[in-house]
Parts: sequence; C-alpha cells; structure tokens
Amino acid sequence: MRIDIVSVFPEFFDSLHVSLLGKAQESGLLDIATHNLRDWTHDVHHSVDDTPVGGGAGMVMKPEVWAECLDELLEVPATSGSAAGTEPQAEPGTVLIFPNPSAPLFSQAAATELSHVKRIVFGCGRYEGIDARVPQYYAQQGIDVAEYSIGDYVLNGGEVAVYAMIEAITRLIPGFMGNPESIVEESYTGDPLLEHRQYTKPATWRGLSVPAVLTSGDHSKVDRYRRDEALERTSRLRPDLIETLECASLDKADRKTLIGLGWEVSSVHPRRVEKKVDR
Ligand code: ADE
Repeated sequence: MRIDIVSVFPEFFDSLHVSLLGKAQESGLLDIATHNLRDWTHDVHHSVDDTPVGGGAGMVMKPEVWAECLDELLEVPATSGSAAGTEPQAEPGTVLIFPNPSAPLFSQAAATELSHVKRIVFGCGRYEGIDARVPQYYAQQGIDVAEYSIGDYVLNGGEVAVYAMIEAITRLIPGFMGNPESIVEESYTGDPLLEHRQYTKPATWRGLSVPAVLTSGDHSKVDRYRRDEALERTSRLRPDLIETLECASLDKADRKTLIGLGWEVSSVHPRRVEKKVDR
C-alpha cells in the first residue's frame, strides 16, 4: 500500500519509521511519503489559511493551496471547476481522506475496508479545518473521498487522527503482523465485544492472582470464561455494543450469561430488561 500524508507539520510523522510500521516499509509492504503543504504556496509567507467567510473565530485552510497539492499528488488536471466530471481521474483504488471532528466516527469496519485499497492520500487540516469545497471538489472529480472523526473531542489538527487511522489500517494488511491470530482475537473484530482482560506470569503478583481458571489447562473452560468476561465487560462499559449483537448468533451459554446480566435475548438484538420500580 502507498500512503501520502499532506500536513504543515510533516515532521510529526517521523516516528512512522519505527517499530512494525518501519519494518513494513523496509520490506516493501508499505510505502509512506509525507509532503509539506507549504511547498505548494507562492507567497513569501507561505500562507495556507485565511479568515472564515461569514465571520467567526480562527482561520480556515485555503482551497487553492490544497488543490495545487492534491491535483499534483492525485494527477487530477486542474479545471476551472464549473462542469464537474464524474469519471475517476486518479488511479483506481485511491482513497482521499480528511480527518474532521465533525465527520462520522472512524471504525474497525472502515479500517478493514481501507486495508484493501492500493493507495490512501491523507490531508491533515489545522486551525478551523480545510475549506469545505476541497473534499466536495475531489468527490466531484470521481475520486473516492472520505472524512472521519476519531472521537467526540477536538484536537489541534488532523495529524494525531491520521496517525491513529494509519495504525488501525496498516496492521490489518496481510503480512503486516508477526502473528495474525492476535487480530482475530481482539476487540472490535468479529463480534462487537470488548476483549477479555489479559494476564502474563507470575500467577500471583503483589498479592493479586490471575483467575484460577486461566491456569487450569482446560481450554474449553478458559474459552468460556473469556467469552463471559467479554460479555460482562461490554454489558457494563459499552451496552450500546451489546444492542448490536445478533441474538441468532449467540450460543446457549452466551444467552444464559446475557440474561444473568439483565438482557432479554429473544428478539433480533438483545434488549435491556426494564427494571420494575416499586411504588
Ligand atoms: N481534527 C481535530 N479533531 C479531530 C478529531 N476528533 N478527529 C479527526 N480529526 C480531527
């Protein structure tokens, strides 16, 4: 996979060369290039932002600078813009992504889908973001454009969000992880459940022991214990995820655990049992 990152702080991404991401680049599985947006400016101050039309605080990133950069990276011929084309111009399999706190949440499902594409170009906004016509324009040119938020909080810019998305996407590329089984077992893959807790040796540390079942050597009991713990933690910490489970895919033991946790499991999805209020 080829990844291009456009930012006014390209040095932020220097650490993409360490650890598993570094190895994947050395082996040729991944090719990451960073670009400084200011290289596409023409004024002495290399300015990339301007005041918001309609008023308001902060600055907005200028569409012209972004377009000069993205036209070049995506090999889209510059147009005057009136009649929008619909034919894909960039190489098929390219996705242009803008991090944006006001966009849909990035998810494991999005990461999985993006792990199969040939190329991703990330555009990191700063200040109050990028002029809204930039993603609109490239979508009109037939490019696959997506905007994602990584959470319901506001960062100073898109760099941290892009970093998080790159980690989530690239570790799903076949051949990236030393042990691909670890992906199968973890949270958000398969059933939408939080993962059970993990322990290593020693079995007792500072007076705290690992659950005895984990040292029993009985694999089916270990599997059941972990599944029940995943159900219990998800029910307590992320009940919204329990509501997305398919009751038909739950086994008898799952149903029993969920009923014990206060869920009703006879509809399509589990539903919280209403607590009776004594009057
Ligand atoms: N830019 C600023 N905050 C962000 C967020 N939460 N997600 C994505 N991009 C952002």
